[in-house]
Amino acid sequence: MKYRLYKPDDFDALYAIETVCFEPPLRFERAYLRQLTRARNSATWVAEENDGKPVGFAVVEWRPARGGRVAGYIATIEVLPEHRRVGAGGALLGRAEVSAREAGADAIWLHVDARNEVARRLYEKHGYTEAGASENFYGPGQGARILVKDLAKDVGKRAE
Ligand SMILES: CC(C)(COP(=O)(O)OP(=O)(O)OC[C@H]1O[C@@H](n2cnc3c(N)ncnc32)[C@H](O)[C@@H]1OP(=O)(O)O)[C@@H](O)C(=O)NCCC(=O)NCCS
Repeated sequence: MKYRLYKPDDFDALYAIETVCFEPPLRFERAYLRQLTRARNSATWVAEENDGKPVGFAVVEWRPARGGRVAGYIATIEVLPEHRRVGAGGALLGRAEVSAREAGADAIWLHVDARNEVARRLYEKHGYTEAGASENFYGPGQGARILVKDLAKDVGKRAE
C-alpha cells in the first residue's frame, strides 16, 4: 500500500469509496466532500494499491481554537472492505495527524458514530480518548462520541 496526498483527478474514486463505506445519513454529499478536499485548511490523504487504484482516504481539517491555538479535526477515514485490517486506516490516521501538526495543531478531535465499535478501536489504538458525546449528531437517535488526542505530546513523531 502507498500513501500520498489527494489530486483533483482522484475525486470520483474517493466518492465511490464513500458510497461503499457509508449509508445516508452518515454518507457525505458529493458537493460536501468536494468542498472538504478543496479547502485550504484541509489535507486529504489517499491509500492506493500498487496499481495506483485508491482504496481508502482520510480528510483532516484544522481551525483556530481557544487561546490562539489550532485544533485538527478528522472529517473522515474510510477504507474499502476488502483492504481493511492491514493497517491502511492507521497509516492514513497517522498521516492526517502529521498534516494537522504541520498546520500548527496541538490537538486533534473527531466525531464517531456511537455504534461504530470498529472505528472506535482504531482511534483508541492510536491514542484517542473519549471527551464527550453529541446526541443526535447524525440524525434522530444517532449519536456520536467525541474523541480527542493531544498532538503536542508526540512532536517530531513521524507517520507510521
Ligand atoms: C475504521 C476503518 C477506517 C479501519 O480501517 P482499517 O484499514 O481496517 O484499520 P487498521 O487495519 O489500521 O486497523 C487498526 C485497528 O483498528 C481496529 N480494528 C479495525 N478493524 C477491526 C475489526 N473489524 N474489529 C475489531 N477491531 C478492528 C483494531 O484495533 C486494529 O488494530 P489490529 O489490526 O492491530 O487489531 C475501516 O474499518 C472503515 O473504513 N470502516 C468504515 C468507515 C468508517 O467507519 N470510518 C470511520 C469514520 S469515524
